[in-house]
Amino acid sequence: MTPTPVDLTAAETLRVASMVLAPLVAQGAIIRRPRATAWAERRQTDRTARAVLTGLRERHGGAPLVLRLGPRRLVLVTEPEDVRRLLEHSPEPFTPATREKRGALAHFQPDGVLISSTAERWHRRPFNEAVLQTDQPVHDDGAAFVDAAQRGVADLTGLLDRTARFDADDFAEAWWGVVLEVVLGARARGDRELLDALNELRRDANWSWLRPRRKGLRAELDGRIGSYLPNPEPGSLAAAAHAEGPATAAGQIPHWLFAFDAAGAATLRALAIVAARPDVRERLLAEAASAGPGPALLPYARACILESVRLWPTTFVVLRDSTGPTAWGKRTLPVGTDFIVVSSFFHRDPARLEHADGFAPEAWLDGRNNADWGLVPFSGGPVSCPGRNLVLLVTSHMLTRLAAARDLRVARGRYLAHDPLPATVDYLGLRFRIAGSAGTGVGPAR
Ligand code: HEM
Repeated sequence: MTPTPVDLTAAETLRVASMVLAPLVAQGAIIRRPRATAWAERRQTDRTARAVLTGLRERHGGAPLVLRLGPRRLVLVTEPEDVRRLLEHSPEPFTPATREKRGALAHFQPDGVLISSTAERWHRRPFNEAVLQTDQPVHDDGAAFVDAAQRGVADLTGLLDRTARFDADDFAEAWWGVVLEVVLGARARGDRELLDALNELRRDANWSWLRPRRKGLRAELDGRIGSYLPNPEPGSLAAAAHAEGPATAAGQIPHWLFAFDAAGAATLRALAIVAARPDVRERLLAEAASAGPGPALLPYARACILESVRLWPTTFVVLRDSTGPTAWGKRTLPVGTDFIVVSSFFHRDPARLEHADGFAPEAWLDGRNNADWGLVPFSGGPVSCPGRNLVLLVTSHMLTRLAAARDLRVARGRYLAHDPLPATVDYLGLRFRIAGSAGTGVGPAR
């Protein structure tokens, strides 16, 4: 029988609010705040959060945990079957267009599918699936996307040749060039104004409803994006979007740009593993050698990226609001209840996963992980990420080509060289250098 949701005591509520939810909010849901992510790594906040939720799951027999925070009623689920219920029954009666997300995302993508009403979703979701080619492991424009990734790799190797090192900011510079080219075409590569406007609005979005909307800045962002649309470059997502439906395109593109940030984070953390574990690099290189040129499917590299987002999920929480009264066990929860899936808790649960804290790409290759409703880096069900395959294509090539270009070492790599892996890794603090470069006069990455 489905366990009935339990009300947490005031002390339990305080523990969940301060040790599970507050660190996630502090780091920034929409754009990360570097000081907070560095703090989260120092405190290993995901480890604490996991301990709190594991304790509560044991104490309450796996029942959903109900918290009252002011007028809000939040329900944290702790069992994969409950995750499944929420995700399979989206967008009705569990809508992804939650109050928090609408407040946040409306700052820069009010027409995005994720915060759309069910009626609007009816055409926006198929539009996204068609352009991103959700069901295709390799997108028809894969060759152009992989070429864009290769140019990003060349930017970074150029830097490595000059300085023997790069950090997360250098990676971001190269990565955003790749993203702009994939989404809007090669002529968008250096569009700083677009990125500045997007990031400025994302900073507002971190504050959700608490920050006023900046219409002028959003008009600037829309204007920059719109300038690439009438005459889109072949091989870009903008071209596919224009062909699919020019009227819908402009409203969806801000999400694509924003979401590629997470793909960069996933790549950088996977690269840190590669730089700390020579055997992983060897497998990547062997796979690339047998795959041949162009946008080949690279299953091992894709599994490394999936492992990166399992171990260090880029979507901290998957949220749903109920659109009607919800019967759950012996209780009925009122319309507007917020449901929360804390990704890192499910992704690292040793009760279900033998490899909880280990680096185990094999578990994606042999299908073990795919059958688990608790592993939701790209969510699941009808609202799951339609960009998953596209992300895996671009990032697997970026990762493999970077690994092949230079033998890298990562600062503090000893923490990543062996299992168990740290619960929290601040990707913004990652620094790389060429192996053996410590004595070249540029000094080792600390
Ligand atoms: C590592 C990179 C990424 C991860 C981990 C990721 C993960 C997710 C997650 C967890 C959701 C939320 C679904 C939910 O609430 O259940 C989502 C939604 C979405 N993602 Fe991604 N995403 C990534 C990159 C991308 C990229 C690059 C694109 C587009 C180019 C994209 C397009 C979308 C869209 C359009 C939605 C909304 C789907 C809907 O509302 O039906 N994502 N993604």
